[in-house]
Amino acid sequence: MDGQETIKRGAWGSKTAFILAATGSAIGLGNIWRFPTMVSQNGGAVFVLVYILAVALIGFTVMLAELTIGRHTQKNPVGAIGHIKPRSPWKFIGYLGVITGVCILSYYSVVAGWTIGYIVKTATGAFSGEVTSQLTEKIYTEFTSNPLQVIFLLFLFIGMTTYIVSKGVKKGIERWTKVLMPILFLLIIFLAVRALTLPGASTGIAYYLKPDFSKLSGTVILFALGQAFFSLSLGMGTMITYGSYISKSDNLVSSAGWVTFSDTLIALLAGLIIFPTLAFSGQPGDVGGFGLVFKIFPIIFSQIPGGYIFALLFFSLLCGAALTSTISLLEVPVAYLVDEREWSRKKAALIVGFLSFVIGVPAALSFGGMKIFTRIDFFGKFDFIFGNISLAVGALLICVFVGYVWGVKNAIKEIFSGNHKFKIKPLWVFSLKFLSPLAIIFILIFIKKLVSG
Ligand code: TRP
Repeated sequence: MDGQETIKRGAWGSKTAFILAATGSAIGLGNIWRFPTMVSQNGGAVFVLVYILAVALIGFTVMLAELTIGRHTQKNPVGAIGHIKPRSPWKFIGYLGVITGVCILSYYSVVAGWTIGYIVKTATGAFSGEVTSQLTEKIYTEFTSNPLQVIFLLFLFIGMTTYIVSKGVKKGIERWTKVLMPILFLLIIFLAVRALTLPGASTGIAYYLKPDFSKLSGTVILFALGQAFFSLSLGMGTMITYGSYISKSDNLVSSAGWVTFSDTLIALLAGLIIFPTLAFSGQPGDVGGFGLVFKIFPIIFSQIPGGYIFALLFFSLLCGAALTSTISLLEVPVAYLVDEREWSRKKAALIVGFLSFVIGVPAALSFGGMKIFTRIDFFGKFDFIFGNISLAVGALLICVFVGYVWGVKNAIKEIFSGNHKFKIKPLWVFSLKFLSPLAIIFILIFIKKLVSG
């Protein structure tokens, strides 16, 4: 029955195809746009260090837990939890994931829409001539505060995502990622090499890689942990949904390892482009802000012969990488509605896509487009609630669910079903049952303090 079911839901073509698609979900704006922003707002290198620890000790643990639930149950998050623990309040994990998916999709698509705007800007010559930080600042501010433009781009981006998801998982995602990811990777390496050889790069490298431990704080740890979940697409059941398409004979541990590794590599490389270039343009590392990437990349392209072509390629790839991520965000609520509520895929994609667009409008207007949303920083607050807190809560519940409710024994049986080695088993179990949940609880208590002053 398993086999039949898998065929019906559309299994991945191969293990490589699964890894490509999961990497496609993980790699996106989170790596190239959000990660450098977080670094610059949270003390530079010390954040990078905490981030790497968070990924290795906690992110990987949750990744493997989610993939294991997914492959075992072959279902969307709500169905998966219900399958393991029928009629229990644990289903809440699934519902939380569905809601979080819709909300992250909404504001994520705002920035994804900007990438389309920047393709057009580059193509029409906005960055020809001398590119200074004043110029890129001006272009960014004018662009993101134009209400009709950003709303239109948001609509366009969610529209593309909706179209692909309505066509079904396999055809949609595999095709994209196979071509996209390798080119993106090569381009990023090339740009990093260029950035590292810019005059003045060393100041930026020091800011990025030489930790100043006096800047370590609870806030730094909180944002590093949140960023790890965000970047790896964890804490809302994306990897449960994707894991449900992995074949029984595949090695879950190495799949989880590959996705975690390549995602982290891309984020770290993105930082190696941003911070040296920032230093080159004469700005300090902590200028921060959500516009960082859009203001800095045009500067590095102006330092490369034929930079125009590279800029076009880069913004197109960034747009594509964002698309493989928004697909995975929309896939969670859609898989839930299709599997549990028996909606048609098309109807589910259309309705959820439209809902995300509506919720995304105030986020799109948070950059000067409309005073009220700019003043309350709707975008930033939304990102904090759904991109940090909600994912951390989700990840915590997943650890507790797998570690104590479903049970480590059952999870490990699933992991072993392909007869593979699992050398780091004791470490994983320790992290799943103790380290990860305790770290997340600690951080959530800290947030309460932070919010209540
Ligand atoms: N990880 C993606 C990125 O880095 C964004 C993303 C896709 C995501 N699916 C997710 C984030 C699920 C959290 C949860 O761009």
